[in-house]
Amino acid sequence: MTIAADQHLVLVGMMGSGKSTVARQAAERLGRRVVDSDAVIEAQTGRTVREIFAAEGEPAFRELESNVLLAALSDPEPLVIAAAGGVVLSAENRSALKAASARVVWLCADPETLVERVRGGGHRPLLDGDPAGTLQRMFDARAPLYKEVADAVVLVDRRSVAEVVEAVLR
Ligand code: S3P
Repeated sequence: MTIAADQHLVLVGMMGSGKSTVARQAAERLGRRVVDSDAVIEAQTGRTVREIFAAEGEPAFRELESNVLLAALSDPEPLVIAAAGGVVLSAENRSALKAASARVVWLCADPETLVERVRGGGHRPLLDGDPAGTLQRMFDARAPLYKEVADAVVLVDRRSVAEVVEAVLR
């Protein structure tokens, strides 16, 4: 296994790439706790991601997202971290990901795969209007940023969750 016992495992990637599901299963295999960014934000604020976007706007949400990431990365207990899709937008977050004792894995999917997987509503208000177009634009803008922080890239198209978990832990 490539991940060291004292390193965090961090999953990054677009909405719908399977970060939360893969993180849960990988954490079970490793006997670790999962930190799932959106879930932590919702628990801490008592509001849904959608409510935070609507009431305070995206910049406020991004700040909460950074706080959760930076806190998790500085936790001495090795964790499995499902980072929210947008964490790579911030240069500070990208530096922290590169500096941390962490193995960062990019779950990479084609935008077409993502469109099939994401469902409207829920915690993804950015996809309300035009999910296919938005995912394509986001992918184009973010792919270089995911690549910049990743120690490994796992392609998830046409792969089962179990196969992806194996690839992540390999
Ligand atoms: C976002 C991804 C979502 C959520 C929010 C914004 C993004 O999380 O944080 O809707 O900008 O990529 P997931 O990556 O868990 O879907």
